Amino acid sequence: MSSAIDSVMTETRVFGPFERVAKDAHVSGMDAYRALYDEAADDLEGFWGRQARENLIWSKPFTKVLNESNAPFYTWFEDGELNVSANCLDRHLNTPVANKTAIIFEADDGQVTQVTYKELYERVCKLANALKSLGYKKGDRSIIYLPMSIEAVVAMQACARLGITHSVVFGGFSSKSLHERCMDVGATLVITADEQKRGGRNIPLKPAVDEALSMPGTEAVRHVIVYRRTGADIAWKEGRDLWLHDVLEGQPAECEPVAVGAEHPLFILYTSGSTGKPKGVQHSSGGYLLSALLTMRWTFDIKDSDIFWCTADVGWVTGHTYIAYGPLAAGATQIMFEGVPTYPTPARFWQMIERHKCTIFYTAPTAIRSLIKASESNDEHHPKKFDLTSLRIIGSVGEPINPEAWMWYFTHVGRERCPVVDTWWQTETGSHILTPLPGATPLKPGSCTLPLPGIEIGIIDESGEEVPPGKGGFLVIKKPWPSMIRTIWGDPERFKKSYFPPEAKGYYLAGDGAQRDKDGYVWIMGRIDDVLNVSGHRLGTMEVESALVAHELVAEAAVVGRPDSTTGEAVVAFVVLKRPVPQGDEAAEIARQLRDWVGKEIGPIAKPREIRFGENLPKTRSGKIMRRLLRVVAQNETITQDVSTLENPAILDQLTKSY
Ligand code: WT7
Repeated sequence: MSSAIDSVMTETRVFGPFERVAKDAHVSGMDAYRALYDEAADDLEGFWGRQARENLIWSKPFTKVLNESNAPFYTWFEDGELNVSANCLDRHLNTPVANKTAIIFEADDGQVTQVTYKELYERVCKLANALKSLGYKKGDRSIIYLPMSIEAVVAMQACARLGITHSVVFGGFSSKSLHERCMDVGATLVITADEQKRGGRNIPLKPAVDEALSMPGTEAVRHVIVYRRTGADIAWKEGRDLWLHDVLEGQPAECEPVAVGAEHPLFILYTSGSTGKPKGVQHSSGGYLLSALLTMRWTFDIKDSDIFWCTADVGWVTGHTYIAYGPLAAGATQIMFEGVPTYPTPARFWQMIERHKCTIFYTAPTAIRSLIKASESNDEHHPKKFDLTSLRIIGSVGEPINPEAWMWYFTHVGRERCPVVDTWWQTETGSHILTPLPGATPLKPGSCTLPLPGIEIGIIDESGEEVPPGKGGFLVIKKPWPSMIRTIWGDPERFKKSYFPPEAKGYYLAGDGAQRDKDGYVWIMGRIDDVLNVSGHRLGTMEVESALVAHELVAEAAVVGRPDSTTGEAVVAFVVLKRPVPQGDEAAEIARQLRDWVGKEIGPIAKPREIRFGENLPKTRSGKIMRRLLRVVAQNETITQDVSTLENPAILDQLTKSY
């Protein structure tokens, strides 16, 4: 843990309650929230046990709610059995939901496709049968590398139906990242597409799979199932590659769901940590699904009549919990979007809200900030030009939302009538942890407000002591919760070290700095480790550094984040080459090569915004890179810190020019 973060909270505006939402909300008013919160706090096991019995369908009921005997490897509902896909689809079959639209899919080019719950069920069953006939079964691991599509949801659900643990890899990740994940999970199956369509462009996917599987360590992969999205010409490996439409041919539209233990790993999702190697966050079946479903109700107040839209990609946890699982378990109608917010124009989101009469809209601060800029430069793209009256709740996720962006979102998108739910959570938490409840919690712009029922948080200092209100510290979660990370796949020691270090005294250490104000509202101050948040995506500085030093020209590299008004943070890389410091055109050319290299090693999101060359990096006499100094240098600010411990102060002058 690094030093505590202190900053003074000055925000005094409060909005709400919102009567329009509160009047028939699942949790209506602060008294109802407190009652639920206290019920959980007084009897954690009783509370979660009741929720799990009332909200999930169990093929074998559990007798034990929480097992703490092997802490911090907590288990929930461990002797119960269920099937996640049956809890998302089959449960609706004999109800009016069966013929309700499950997904309204809007393609990049605007074409709309819809499926009902019954149709989705049949598609999932057909694919599950196909996978079964290829020999895949419970306990196997698959990699899903698909674009935003109904097929992606079908693939995830089909795996869940058979007890195959999936690991979705975001389509923006490179073949190298894909290879790493494929090996780490020990995948035997890959499901992908020929290409994806984003922003009017076709972007190949299958070639990255071919490349990943040509590298050693992935020999266990028996099949690559390919969804034909664009019809592009692609290389084909006979015996291994299969078209999705071919494997579905003739498959029956019913497939018995395979009951799994509540702790059975539903998925593994990789996320950046403070070392070079991404962590495979392992999630459960029962506890995960329970929280996914409950937060649909608590945070989004989901109703039968809602049209829910989460703009995240299924490659991130937000797309798992609030596209592939939560909305389906809740029987909701949701919008799914293939494209990007700026194509064909930056009014795309507003047009889509209007066209599909979206009622709950959930997006990231990065998108909001870029759309603010776009609508300021062209009035035609401003949300006021569109009919957004269908909206009743708007949400934010992925990074702190600055009060100005919050106010714009609230005023121009929510028209001051929709509560903004600023949801704080992580890949590891599986579902929302801190968030307003739309029919209850008064809002303060920039605060994710209060913990959900069943969640007890704390803010502690380096010695594990609770800090008083108004003082910064480390955010911890004090009690286990059902959708929490179970372990890091294949690395339980790293799980313990990362999330339950001795300093945190048995609490879950989130990795974020935070403080509470006098009302107990939580304000997130950003990461406390070497993890950046670029456009709402987590990126380890070490990962980018490892990628850079793997380039033949690079001797040493240090990567830091710089605050950025659109992307939250931007990657700035300080690089020492194995040759003299380049200047002018040569420097620009090498910077371009390095940027492309990082794009290939990790993915385009990791490309450094700026590269700065020096003959060395600022180091202490003991040889430690002084990152705090580099952060100041990256912001082009004058150094006010003490540099007396610096071995080579002259180096700082070299590092001011960026390419
Ligand atoms: C990190 C987790 C949660 C799904 C998407 C990101 C930051 C997330 C907020 C928020 C302030 C936030 C934190 C957290 N973060 N939501 N509402 N306010 N910060 O998941 O990639 O696992 O990243 O994102 O720093 O630790 P993730």
